[in-house]
Amino acid sequence: MSERTIALVTGANKGIGYEIAAGLGALGWSVGVGARDDRRRQAAVESLRAAGVDAFGVPLDVTDDASATAAARLIEEQAGRLDVLVNNAAISGTMPQEPTRVDPATVRTVVETNVIGVIRVTNAMMPLLRRSASPRIVNMSSSVGSLTLQSGTAGELTAGPVAVAYSPSKTFLNAVTLQYARELSGTNILINAGCPGYVATDLNGFRGVRTPEQGAAIAIKLATLPDDGPTGQFFDDAGVVPW
Ligand SMILES: NC(=O)c1ccc[n+]([C@@H]2O[C@H](COP(=O)([O-])OP(=O)(O)OC[C@H]3O[C@@H](n4cnc5c(N)ncnc54)[C@H](OP(=O)(O)O)[C@@H]3O)[C@@H](O)[C@H]2O)c1
Repeated sequence: MSERTIALVTGANKGIGYEIAAGLGALGWSVGVGARDDRRRQAAVESLRAAGVDAFGVPLDVTDDASATAAARLIEEQAGRLDVLVNNAAISGTMPQEPTRVDPATVRTVVETNVIGVIRVTNAMMPLLRRSASPRIVNMSSSVGSLTLQSGTAGELTAGPVAVAYSPSKTFLNAVTLQYARELSGTNILINAGCPGYVATDLNGFRGVRTPEQGAAIAIKLATLPDDGPTGQFFDDAGVVPW
């Protein structure tokens, strides 16, 4: 079994996920680049390796049970265990998403990726995480999933557009994170949600104001929590985000 810390980042072929992989790789970790498209995955692995990262490709579509099972098998063969899982892959879904006009299929698709996908991948990886001395799970959420911020007087960048698929999918993900933390309390597994801030990526047509590297910072912090670190909480760079 590898002496290096082993991480898997889902949706690591671009955007924030790519920078999370780069940041964890810079710590000397071995990083699985989870991505559904062969060409995009291979390009990311090559680019990370060129930057000195011990990266390996993990074919992974988070909406597919067989894909998640195969990804776990590949990591078991490659590393024998998993220390850190970063559930980063997500979609915003077709816009606009005003509740009164939305196509229910859009909501279903977004939840399938952003919520069920996290549960699917986490559970596929759980036997490998349980073999780690200090397992960490990071769920990439968003402050737009904060009911407190959505219902308050927060500015546009915090509350985001009215979106009945994407924003509630992150609220759902936060709730899911809490339930995992409750079940896993008393174990050595720490699981938290992180918000990267408003980052310029494909997800928002590059309208964000932060760089993907800045967005990756919270995931790297939560991936490297000490054994007595928090679990079942929601953070951004400034600290705790209200539910
Ligand atoms: N950007 C922001 O301002 C912002 C703010 C708050 C939270 N976030 C969160 O941060 C995370 C990263 O977002 P981003 O901005 O970096 O978005 P992005 O550039 O669009 O990247 C999303 C990644 O997820 C992957 N993905 C989507 N569906 C997938 C599936 N079914 N299976 C596997 N991979 C899949 C994409 O792969 P493909 O290339 O194959 O599509 C891509 O690698 C997301 O959880 C997002 O909700 C972002």
